[in-house]
Parts: sequence; C-alpha cells; structure tokens
Amino acid sequence: MLNAQDNELLCRVGPGTPMGELLRRFWVPLLRSEDLPGPDCDPVEVRVFGEDYVAFRDTNGRIGIVEALCPHRRAPLFYGRNEEHGLRCIYHGWKFDVEGNCVDMPSEPAQYEFSKKVRPIGFPAEEWGGAIWGYFGPADKKPELPQVEWFRVPPSHRYMVKYNQECNFVQATEGDIDSSHIGFLHQDLGWGMQQVSGEYKYWLSDKSPRWIIKPTNYGIMLAAQRNAEEDTHYWRINQWLMPFYTMIAMQVDQRRGHGHMWVPVDDEHTDVWCVTWSPVEPLTDEEKYGILDGPNPHISSLDRVTGKLRATKSNHFLQDRTLQRTKSFTGIVGTREQDTAVVEGMGAIADRTREHLGTSDSAIIAMRRYLLNSAKAFMDGTEPGEACDGDRYQVRAWSYILPRDAVFTEDEKVKELMAAMA
Ligand code: FES
Ligand SMILES: [Fe+2]
Repeated sequence: MLNAQDNELLCRVGPGTPMGELLRRFWVPLLRSEDLPGPDCDPVEVRVFGEDYVAFRDTNGRIGIVEALCPHRRAPLFYGRNEEHGLRCIYHGWKFDVEGNCVDMPSEPAQYEFSKKVRPIGFPAEEWGGAIWGYFGPADKKPELPQVEWFRVPPSHRYMVKYNQECNFVQATEGDIDSSHIGFLHQDLGWGMQQVSGEYKYWLSDKSPRWIIKPTNYGIMLAAQRNAEEDTHYWRINQWLMPFYTMIAMQVDQRRGHGHMWVPVDDEHTDVWCVTWSPVEPLTDEEKYGILDGPNPHISSLDRVTGKLRATKSNHFLQDRTLQRTKSFTGIVGTREQDTAVVEGMGAIADRTREHLGTSDSAIIAMRRYLLNSAKAFMDGTEPGEACDGDRYQVRAWSYILPRDAVFTEDEKVKELMAAMA
C-alpha cells in the first residue's frame, strides 16, 4: 500500500514532475532499427513521457529526433517530406536536419537570415543494439547507454517485439517482477504435473515462493526460492534495472534470455518491448514464430499495423469461459494478453491506497521503494548513478538448483556466478 501522494510521485512522468525529470536523465529506447528501415524512409511519430516527437532517418542514414510540431506555425512535422538530408515541413517548406537545425526557409527572403534565429528543435539520438534511442534531459547530464546483454549480442541472436499497453509504466513493470503469478495466471490446466518436465514443474508444485530481495547499484536482484526435490531448492533470480528494464530468469542451461522494457509513453500508456536473446547462438525461425504466430504464441493478438493487441479491455481480452473451465486458468489466449488483462484492468493508474500486500509482493514493494527513493533523492539534488554508468547493466537473470541447506547469498556457486556476471 502507498499513500496517495507517493502513488502520484511514483507514476507521473510528464515534464516538470519529479519522476518524469528523473526518467529524462536516462537514454530511452524509442523504436526498433527496422521501424526506420532506410535512408529517407517515412518518418515515425514518437510519444514518450507525455511529449510528442518525430523520428526520421536522413539521406546518410543518420537518425533525427525532433519536436513534433514545426516551430513556424506548429504544423505536424510527421507529414513532412524526408528528403536530401533533412525533414521538410509540408506547410511552408521549412527544413530541419537531424540535429533539429532549420537549414532552409524558402518562404522567407534569404537576406533576413531568419533560419539562423530559430532555435534547434532536435534531441540527441543514437542507434545501437537494434534500437533507436533518444535523450531528453539537459545537455550537460548526457548519460551512458545501458550495457544490457540483449543489446550487446549480434543481431541474429536477438528478437524484439513492441506493443502498446494502456496503463502506467509502474504497474506494467510490477506485473513482470511478480514471480508468484506464473503458476496461476499462465497456467494451462492441460499441463498436469506428470507432463510438465524440467524446471517448470517446480512452478506448479510450489506456488508460494520465499523471496530474497537484494538492492544493487543497478536496481534490484529478486531471488525466489521454491521447493524442488526433497533435498534441493529451485531458485529463480530475476532482475529489475533502473528505470524500466526487467530480466526474467534464464533456465539453468542459460541458453535463452527473456526480458522486457516498459517505456512510459505518458502517465496512462506504456510501450512494452518483449526481447528474446541468446548469449551463445542465433535464434531459430521457429522461436520467432512461436512468439507471434505459433500454435501457442506468447503474443497471439498483436496487430502489426497499429502496434496494439486485438484482444483488449473493451472485448474482455477475448476471454473464452469454456476454455477457462477446461484448459486454461484464465480462458485468455496468449501470455502477454493474460498479463495485460490483469494490469490494465486495475485502471490506468492503480489506486495503491487500497491494496493489501503480502509476502509474495516483496519484490514489488522493493521496486517501488527504489524508484521513490531515487525520485526523492533527485529532488534533493542527487543525480541517478545508474544513468551515467552503463556497465552496471552487465548482469544476467538465471535459475539454479541448490541443496536445501545452502544459503543463497553465501553459496560458493552463486558467488562464482555472480562474480562472473558482474
Ligand atoms: S508551419 Fe512548418 S513551415 Fe510553416
Ligand atoms: Fe506474466
């Protein structure tokens, strides 16, 4: 539970809000590289932290992020002509380069040199790790790019899908670090214990994990302990990294990773990035097919034109009550649809003054505290250390089976793994 004031502080991301200004100290992934596929391609509208921009790729392939409205008479630059090293407004032809400088003003006599008097409308942009990044904070506080593993692997080892969710970024993120919901929300009733193999059976056999929460210099390490065999525990270690990254525990073999980015579009919308990557080999076409198109896709209803799910709150996420009685805990098809149904259903900004949190919510409590403490420290003049040290993000989330008498944080094997990941 939070008081109303802290809930506001936690969730509001617009300009001038403490959380909004804190978030603007970080590089933000805005688009996938393929969303701007080539030189002089169509520009793309971008909305982040409650403000609107246009992204484009110029004739040389460089990325520009500029204010959405032309500084002349406020026409939308999205309609602009992307031509010859700049984006030209369709209203009176003013043209802007990737840095947002007005480089041509054909509607004005050249001798007045008006174009030099228009302040630049661009923001720092980078293309790295398959994503297009923007920075919206003060020029003298420019941060480092976060060295999250999935951005550092070759393109063939990574697959990223993005869609829009209609709720605040904090509650969207909370849905991902809430490891105790997996055995309920995502349960297929057809599983039956005997058919479930490997590590998955421990999710079902122990639905009330014990938590160890460890604040770190990048965010929080979240370890959930479940009973495995008679003499062992199954540990899943997830990561939450400032300000909106989550990593879901890899299986014990550490061949595939899954993670998310929860980028605030505004107070009531979030761009959800779903990332699958491998630290060791290229992903297969079947794996990518399984995310979007397979017989049991993770994201079964993504409309690739609108970037939204077709299963929505207004159609009750296409819940099938017969399916719910016979095959699936929810009757909702698709892992992301299941998660979205519950977090969007809380309302655009959940009323945290009315919750009743339990021990299984420790991870969520810790993340809120970390974010709130960071925002309060920032208001007192402390810059976020995570933003200017990209190497802090070189961590992994993984699973491990340990003897029951091993103390997780003391176990030598765990220490070894953690040292290797640091
Ligand atoms: S409004 Fe853009 S050139 Fe006039
Ligand atoms: Fe989930």
